[in-house]
Amino acid sequence: MKFSRKVEVCGLSPVRKFYPCEVAAAARGIQVHHLNIGQPDIETPEVFFDAVRNFEDKVVAYAPAPGIPAFLEAVRDYYQRLGCEISCDDILATFGGSEALQMIMSCILDDGDEVLVPEPYYPNYDTFIRITGGVIRPIPTTAEESYHYADRSRIEPLINEHTRAILITNPGNPTGVVLSEEERRTMVDIAKEHDLFLISDEVYREIVYGGRRVSTMLEYDDAAENIVVVDSVSKRFSATGTRVGTLVTRNKQLILEASKLCQSRLCIATLEQAGAAAMYNLLKSDYYADVLSQYEQRKDMLVESLSKLPGVTFNSPEGAFYIMATLPVDDAEKLQYFLLEEFDDQGETVMFTPAEGSYSNPADGRNKIRIAYVTNPADIARGVEILGRGIEAYNARKA
Ligand SMILES: Cc1ncc(COP(=O)(O)O)c(C=O)c1O
Repeated sequence: MKFSRKVEVCGLSPVRKFYPCEVAAAARGIQVHHLNIGQPDIETPEVFFDAVRNFEDKVVAYAPAPGIPAFLEAVRDYYQRLGCEISCDDILATFGGSEALQMIMSCILDDGDEVLVPEPYYPNYDTFIRITGGVIRPIPTTAEESYHYADRSRIEPLINEHTRAILITNPGNPTGVVLSEEERRTMVDIAKEHDLFLISDEVYREIVYGGRRVSTMLEYDDAAENIVVVDSVSKRFSATGTRVGTLVTRNKQLILEASKLCQSRLCIATLEQAGAAAMYNLLKSDYYADVLSQYEQRKDMLVESLSKLPGVTFNSPEGAFYIMATLPVDDAEKLQYFLLEEFDDQGETVMFTPAEGSYSNPADGRNKIRIAYVTNPADIARGVEILGRGIEAYNARKA
């Protein structure tokens, strides 16, 4: 059977790749510590479950394609509290941030078009872009510069006649970078001057450390046509299975084009939207202060534990809940297979995300990994301890 070139050039998600080995390790009775996936253990707010339980309609009918009014209004109010005047017509409910990203790329890219993306990036971006026939042109960033990139002299030489958009993640996955006010302005100015879309993936918006202000690119009214924001309840409310996200833009044409793609799923799950609306309304209170302090404690624990591992280098993140680390090994994927198939420390092992998929040239990420700090601090410390012992055993084996 013939498959499309467009799908053949896409890679599997790194999470899928190691799953069979993880299952085999568990079958051998090995306890696997997960530092690999961004699935927080913080409880989903009770209001979500209440809203679903209290749903009164006797028929779970199709919702309107753009979203149910209660959800769209809750999202609009939330952005208003952040200081942005948007209307419900500027919002499209989507199946997570993932569908919003896929829709945007499908609306704006043709074969051979390019999207500038700071590298290392969230690996799924590659699939969202490639499946449309587009390609990522990376904006290289380094740990030494704390992964900051918003600099004209670095970005403008990468723009050519094929460039359609700049896609940024702020706060960043996997780097933890958070742009300053000045840097955000620079990105907006570049997009505006070169007539590009600025796609701002802000699914980690509230998770910023050091008392910094929570912000969104939608604040820049003067570039309303260029800016598209991707958002989601997944990380914000520790509700990844809810599959409710949003595409938000004041570019009316983009909303119109994206609405055509709603035909592929008719609507987003009605009950989940009702629950999501209730969660957005929670942010009127100081609900987030406690959540943020939990992530901050986890980050501190990860930073402290990783600092003890010889030869491991990393940068302390400014936001989101990931750390990129460089390991003293030849190949982080081989290390991951070794940890799952040949190694254990008192019956326990650990998983992380090898970073190859975050680089357009996979060799650039070969000895790098992404660690997620979404479980309790003791688990994180134990996971890192196992990682250190695993690195020693892996390198001793090869010597
Ligand atoms: C940067 C980023 N964007 C988007 C997503 C997609 O999230 P969801 O589809 O669950 O909203 C993720 C998930 O990990 C992510 O890390």
